[in-house]
Amino acid sequence: MKTFHIAGLEPLAPVVPAPMSGYSDRAWREIARAMGCNYLIVPLVSAEGLARADVKTEALVDIEGERRPVVVQLFGSRPASLAAAAQRLEARGVSAIDLNLGCPARRIVAHDGGAALLKHPRLVAELMHALRSAVHCPVTAKIRAGWDESSPPAVEIARILEAEGAAAIAIHARTGRQQFKGTADWRVIAAVKQAVRIPVIGNGDIRSGADAWRMCCETGCDAVMIGRAAIGNPWLWREALAWLAAEGPPPTPPAPPSLAERLDMLRQHAALMARYRGEPRGIVEFRKHAVQYLRGVRNSRPLKHVFLSCTTLADIAAAIEAFQAAAAERPLHS
Ligand SMILES: Cc1cc2nc3c(=O)[nH]c(=O)nc-3n(C[C@H](O)[C@H](O)[C@H](O)COP(=O)(O)O)c2cc1C
Repeated sequence: MKTFHIAGLEPLAPVVPAPMSGYSDRAWREIARAMGCNYLIVPLVSAEGLARADVKTEALVDIEGERRPVVVQLFGSRPASLAAAAQRLEARGVSAIDLNLGCPARRIVAHDGGAALLKHPRLVAELMHALRSAVHCPVTAKIRAGWDESSPPAVEIARILEAEGAAAIAIHARTGRQQFKGTADWRVIAAVKQAVRIPVIGNGDIRSGADAWRMCCETGCDAVMIGRAAIGNPWLWREALAWLAAEGPPPTPPAPPSLAERLDMLRQHAALMARYRGEPRGIVEFRKHAVQYLRGVRNSRPLKHVFLSCTTLADIAAAIEAFQAAAAERPLHS
């Protein structure tokens, strides 16, 4: 599996970084591109906010000068607002628009957005129809396995989306009510893949390249989407791409990152955050990534602690230097 295809876009790498609000910002997308991904999604932008040209909402769409393809994910439950928002985005040159039908957060479902829409198949059809009629670029959707066990199943929603012109569907194989609990039921991905002809991107609980390949084998999905496990470990996307390219264990597996490489990536990521978000804001937002780059690293607790008070790039650099100096002094088998 080398690429997958969404009508109207260039060939796409079959590993897709999951849209994650608070994480998958411009810096993260740039790192994902360096790891070989090229289908990148700006997460969870309010259609209502965009439709009324709200400045803060517009600022979330930080895509000026960014490489394409870049997709923007919208949430909302009113066809007219989604259509107006999509037109504004198309005028800004987005490659595709993704409709969020999967977010279980209370502030979204309280307004019947995100995963709550899975309870209302007719409205889902109207929303996709409105989007498709409003823009020329592809429109995709990200769904869940359903709202809960008793709501219309993902297969029904997927068929509706396809009939209304969706160009691809990503599916996180948990219900909305499950949020992130339990394990993802990949059988739902297989069922959706069987039910539609448009590309299906499988999502949920991939933690290794082997997992990515297993999801492809078990579900027949056209691409995989990886989120949480890539936080602080963007090499996972590269590893998954290697497995999918080799259709099994890669003959020369990419080496796991050394401590020096982790620290180097951490510095690069911080620099991108400072570039795109400024100091101190970008560095404050970066803290949650910084601690994740040190997941599993021995004796890193004091450094993680220091990161939580960093406000500048210089603070980050000094903290890393102090950590490396302490590591150099430590006896080898301490
Ligand atoms: C912190 C966080 C934020 C998320 N934000 C979004 C979002 O904005 N839009 C969306 O479609 N999914 C969002 N998700 C869900 C992920 O895209 C993905 O479906 C989920 O994490 C399961 O994949 P994973 O097991 O690879 O993490 C978010 C998940 C997390 C953990």
